[in-house]
Amino acid sequence: MLSALLYALVALTGIVHGFTLRTWDQAYALANATVANLTMTEKVGLLSGVGQFNSRCVGNTTPVSRLGIPAICFQDGPAGIRLVKNVTGFPAGINVAATFSRRLMQARGQAMAEEFRAKGVHVLLGPAMDLMRNPKAGRAWESFGPDPYLNGEGAFSTITGIQSVGVQACAKHLVSNNQEHWRYGLSALVDDRTMHEMYFYPFLRAIDAGVTSIMCAYNQLNGTSSCHNAGLLGPTGLVHSTGFQGYVVSDWGATHDSASDNANAGLDMEQPGDNIVIGGGAFGEGGSGLASAVNSGSVTTARINQMVSRVLAGYYRLGQDTGYPAVNFDAQHSDGSGSLNLGVNVRSAAHTALVREIGGASAVLLKNNRTTTTGAASGVTVRGLPIAAARIKTMAVIGQDAILPNLSCNDLNECNDGTMSIGWGSGSNSLQFIVPPITAIQQFVGTSATIATSLTNDLSAGPAAAKGKDVAIVFVNAMSGELGAYDTVVGNMGDRNDLDLWWKGGSLVEAVAAVCNNTIAVIHSVGPVSVSWSDHPNITGIIYAGAPGEQTGPAIVDVLYGAVNPSGRLPFSIDEDEASYGTTIVYNSLGFPVVNYTEQLLIDYRYMDAKGITPHYEFGFGLSYTTFAYSGLKITSTGSGTSSAVVVTFTVANSGAFAGTEIPQMYLAYPASAGEPKRILRGFDEVKLAVGTTATVTMNLAAREISIWNVATQAWVRPAGTFTVSIGASINDVRLTGTF
Ligand code: BGC
Repeated sequence: MLSALLYALVALTGIVHGFTLRTWDQAYALANATVANLTMTEKVGLLSGVGQFNSRCVGNTTPVSRLGIPAICFQDGPAGIRLVKNVTGFPAGINVAATFSRRLMQARGQAMAEEFRAKGVHVLLGPAMDLMRNPKAGRAWESFGPDPYLNGEGAFSTITGIQSVGVQACAKHLVSNNQEHWRYGLSALVDDRTMHEMYFYPFLRAIDAGVTSIMCAYNQLNGTSSCHNAGLLGPTGLVHSTGFQGYVVSDWGATHDSASDNANAGLDMEQPGDNIVIGGGAFGEGGSGLASAVNSGSVTTARINQMVSRVLAGYYRLGQDTGYPAVNFDAQHSDGSGSLNLGVNVRSAAHTALVREIGGASAVLLKNNRTTTTGAASGVTVRGLPIAAARIKTMAVIGQDAILPNLSCNDLNECNDGTMSIGWGSGSNSLQFIVPPITAIQQFVGTSATIATSLTNDLSAGPAAAKGKDVAIVFVNAMSGELGAYDTVVGNMGDRNDLDLWWKGGSLVEAVAAVCNNTIAVIHSVGPVSVSWSDHPNITGIIYAGAPGEQTGPAIVDVLYGAVNPSGRLPFSIDEDEASYGTTIVYNSLGFPVVNYTEQLLIDYRYMDAKGITPHYEFGFGLSYTTFAYSGLKITSTGSGTSSAVVVTFTVANSGAFAGTEIPQMYLAYPASAGEPKRILRGFDEVKLAVGTTATVTMNLAAREISIWNVATQAWVRPAGTFTVSIGASINDVRLTGTF
C-alpha cells in the first residue's frame, strides 16, 4: 500500500511541469543578452561536449554556474530514456507510424518528454526521421517508414508533443542516413528534387513544428560531410532557408574536419566533444580547437556568438531557465549504481496505459479467416480472431519471441533471445518493466484454459505442444539496429542480412500449422519480413505487431481477445522479394562507398506502383474485426499557386458487427506532366465508430502538399493540370475517387 502511494506521488510530481513558452524573438533577446556576458571559455564550453566518459548524460555541455546555466543534458532516445532505470520503454517510431494516428504520435512524444523532463534531460535525441529507403535498413524502425509524408506527420506530431512539456526535441539524422553499413563515411548521392521531396521533407515538418535542434549525420551528402556541409547548414543552406531557428548538433563523433571547417559551414555544437575513434574532437577537448580557431581569426567572433545564441535560444524558448529539474541519473552507470543515480521513478500509470494503447493500435491484422458459431459475423468465434476465451479450453503458446528477453544484455540491447519489443542501438530503450506475451496470456487466461508451451523455436517441440489444441499462438520475430562499434548481432551488422524471420520463425509457423487448424502467428519485427507461408489454410490469423515497447504482452492480449479491435496499418509494403522495393543496401565496399540514390522518388510502394508489382501486403493495409463503408466524396479547391487550398470530405460508416477504428487514407495522383510517382500518400485520419454509426472526415491539402520541388526555380510549385484523389482503406483498397 505504502509503495503504491509513493509510486503515485512520484508519478504525479513527474508530470507537473508548467513552463512559459517564449517566442523565438523573446528567446533570442535573452540569448543575445547572455552571450554578451560570456567569456570565450564559457562560450566554447556551451558549444562542445565534455567528453564521452565525462558526461552524466550521453552528452553534456559545460555549465556556466555564475549565470545559473546548467550543463545542458542530451539523452537518447526516440522511444524513451536509455541507460537509466525507472523509466518507461515506449513503442518504436515504426509502431506509432502504424497507428496512423496523430493523436497517439503526439501523446507518445509528450509522455516520453514528461519522463525526460522529470529526469532532468534538456534535449531528447529524437525523433529519428530517416526514411526506410530499404526494408532491411538497420535503424528504420526508429522512424516512421518509407513514406516522406507519414514521416513528416510523425515528426511534426512527435515534436509538438515533446516540446509541449518544455523538453527540446532533436530532429535526426540530417540527412540521408539510410543504412548502417559504412554509415560513418559513405556518401549519399542525392539530387535536389529527391532531397526536397523525400529525405528533407520530414525535416521541413520538424521545422514547421518549431524544433529547437537538428542532429547532422555521420555520412556525407554528395561528397561533403553532413556536419561540414554549408549546403545543408549554412546561412543559405537547406535548414535555415526553410525557417529553422535553432542549432545544429553533430551526431556523436560525426565531425570529420577542423573546428573552423565545421563552424564556418554551419555546425553549432559538437558532441560528445572528444574523438571517439569514428571521429569527433574537432572543436577540441573542452572546446580548445574552437577556441584557437577564434583566436587565430579563422572563426569570427560574430559566428561564435551566433552559435551560442542559437544554442541558448532553444533553452530560453522552452523556459528551461526556470524551474527545470536537475539531472538525477548517471548514464555512465546504466545499472543504476553510483551516488549520481538518485533512483527517481518517472513512470506513471498513464504512461503504462499509453504504451499499451499504442501497442494495440499499432497491431496490423494481416489475415483473419474467422469462422463463427452462427456463420454470421455477430456469432462467437470458432477459429480465427478475436479469440473467444469462453470457447477455448486447450491452447498452445509457442516461440522464443513469447518470453522475457535478456534483461542484462548490454547497453545497446544487442540481443535477440526473447520477445523483440525494440531494436538495438542508441534508439533502444528500457526493458526493465517489460511484460512478455507469455506472462500476459497466462494472466488473462487464468484457469479458463490449459496452456501448453514450447518457448523456444524448436521445430519438433513447437508442433508437439500445438497438436490437437483449440488454438496455437506462435510468436516469431526479426530484429535490427545501429551499427555502433561494428558489432554484429547473430551475424547482422546493423542492417538485416535478409527479409527472413529470425531463428527459423517461418518454418516454426508452418510446422505448427501442419498440426493445428487454428494457428495464429504474431510477428514482432522492425520492418517487412517474408511471410511466404501466409496462405496456409490452418493459419487463421496473422498479426504484425512491430516493436511495441514494454507493454507488448498486455497489448497483444487486447488484440487477440478483442478488447481492442485492430486498426493498425502497414507503414510500408510487405513483399517476399527484396527486388520489389527498388533499392539495395551497399554491404561490401573497398572503403566508404558512394551510395547513388538513382531510384529518386521511387521507394517502397512508389516503386512497386511504377513497376506494376503487387506486393504480398500493400502499404496502408490492415484488417479490422468490423467492416467500414465509404461514401459522399466532396472536393473543394480554392486559390491557385502558393495560395492553393483543397478540402476533401467524405463519410465513413461502421457497417459491421464490432465497434472499431477505421484509418481512411488519401492518395494523390498528380498531373502526368509533374513527373511524380503514380500515387502518393497525402492524408490519413483515425475514425472511431460504434456499430452502425457514421462520421464525416475532412482532409486538408496545403499548397506544398500539392506541389513539386522545382529545381530550376528552387521553389515548391503546383503543377498545372488535374489531380486525382483516391480515398481508401489502403493504397490498393480504394473506395472513392474524385478530381480537382
Ligand atoms: C547515434 C545517435 C545517438 C547518439 C548518442 C549515435 O551513434 O547515431 O542517434 O543519438 O549516438 O548516443
